[in-house]
Amino acid sequence: MSQTKGQKVQIRAYGVKVLLSHHPRVRRLKRLHFPSGHGNKFWTSSWLLMDFFNRKGLPARSRVMDVGCGWGLAGIYCAKKHDAVVTAIDTDSEIFPFLQLHAEINGVQVATMKRAFGGLTHADLEGFDVLIGADICFWETLTYSLKRLINRALRSGIKLVLIADPGRSTFDELAEYFVEKQGGKILNRTVHRPRRIRGRILKIGSIND
Ligand SMILES: C[S@@+](CC[C@H](N)C(=O)[O-])C[C@H]1O[C@@H](n2cnc3c(N)ncnc32)[C@H](O)[C@@H]1O
Repeated sequence: MSQTKGQKVQIRAYGVKVLLSHHPRVRRLKRLHFPSGHGNKFWTSSWLLMDFFNRKGLPARSRVMDVGCGWGLAGIYCAKKHDAVVTAIDTDSEIFPFLQLHAEINGVQVATMKRAFGGLTHADLEGFDVLIGADICFWETLTYSLKRLINRALRSGIKLVLIADPGRSTFDELAEYFVEKQGGKILNRTVHRPRRIRGRILKIGSIND
């Protein structure tokens, strides 16, 4: 853990470094870029995805799409710890400088693309193995667009979909739909790094079979 004037400015868990809001480099970016749509920080469900891959593994060079990536920590973890080839997607391009800062300090490369969930086409999705998303299903309208995106992703050949969430009703609706329609599973998880975090993962398909 690193500190500035006694204040914690950086944490590390699952091998990934994360700069907190008070870190001088984050503060500098916040003066220049103004994320909207909850992309102003990293969200804790990312740790659930890291914990999942830490336990279950991810084949090297898997092609991973991180949707609603925000600061992109889940995708950065996949690139850093599993040598995945990662593309991070968000509707708000103002978050990309924060993502690139974290890619840099973690020593990985992540491609970015500005696109809304509803704007991702079959051609965009084709060629990816895994679709991940953390804390992205927080409005009714997002439940609807994520249903469509995930169905399109599965039709495009994506083998594994993992969506993590603290357990909002909007996420539960999405998860229950895919349990019924696509044999998805809802995994209740608690992780203990970097602190105790509880939540759920919707898992559809598998990449290790
Ligand atoms: C709560 S944040 C989560 C960010 C990141 N996944 C994390 O765990 O730190 C939600 C993210 O979804 C993005 N977002 C919201 N609506 C979106 C949409 N319709 N299409 C793509 N991204 C969207 C926001 O810009 C924001 O970066």
